[in-house]
Amino acid sequence: MAAGNEIEIRPLTVGFGAEIHGVDLATHVDDGVLAQMRHAFGEYGVIFFRDQRLTPEQHIAFAERWGEINVNRFFQAVEGHPRIAEVRKEPDQRINIGGGWHTDHSYDVAPAMGSILYALEVPSAGGDTLYANMALAYETLSDGLKETLGGLRAVHSSRHVFGAAAATQATGAKSDIAGRIGNPDAVTQDVVHPVVIRHPDTGRKLLYVNPGFTLHFEGWTPAESRPLLRYLYQHATVPERTIRFHWREGSIAFWDNRATWHYALNDYHGERRLMHRITLEGVPVQA
Ligand code: SIN
Repeated sequence: MAAGNEIEIRPLTVGFGAEIHGVDLATHVDDGVLAQMRHAFGEYGVIFFRDQRLTPEQHIAFAERWGEINVNRFFQAVEGHPRIAEVRKEPDQRINIGGGWHTDHSYDVAPAMGSILYALEVPSAGGDTLYANMALAYETLSDGLKETLGGLRAVHSSRHVFGAAAATQATGAKSDIAGRIGNPDAVTQDVVHPVVIRHPDTGRKLLYVNPGFTLHFEGWTPAESRPLLRYLYQHATVPERTIRFHWREGSIAFWDNRATWHYALNDYHGERRLMHRITLEGVPVQA
């Protein structure tokens, strides 16, 4: 655990997802260790830590080593800590946060770089998170489809998820999410991003559409876009291109929002699951 030590990187699969051992994130992380983590983050897309004990201040301090923190405009914040978003589901609630494939903040002009999710309370079983590999999703397409996608851009939005229309659908299900997600006036304009982007650090090509926030291809109607988007979503989420992370109290997942999608499974009704999430600012994505 001592600062300056080599960390141990245990890949979960070939090239996607890795657990990092031998570091205590509650302490100041040595620059050399941070550099090894950065390398693993670029190589594996999502890195995991086990058995950590972080105060909100320590969580923030670790996040700040990676970049500027994004203050989430829709999620309930942890009391006294506006920069930490709460990802909570109570035993009497049915809807979870993030319960479908998506990547955070693709609806922003400069989508978030990544998120650091820390587990405080987990159900006795269930509540795992799935991750999908957007580099592999792109690389395993045919040359013909890669060429087509290389010329396309897509429209992304938060309206249908966090906007006023979504918030005022007064069904029992929607009211269940009230108090955890809010502030519909903070929905900004829709944005357009290339469908294939280059990772700003590694230069690797990535598929950059997602089921949560992508509406349609630019210049195509939603109906025209749907079949191809559906194909891409199915292609990206086959088991070979995904991993499943089982949480324990004190686990941390740190994912790259450009290189991955994630999906919080909602299979633990009747139990509490409580996580703290810090999201880091990113840069505009480019082809
Ligand atoms: C999220 O979408 O950020 C939540 C992920 C999770 O709770 O596992």
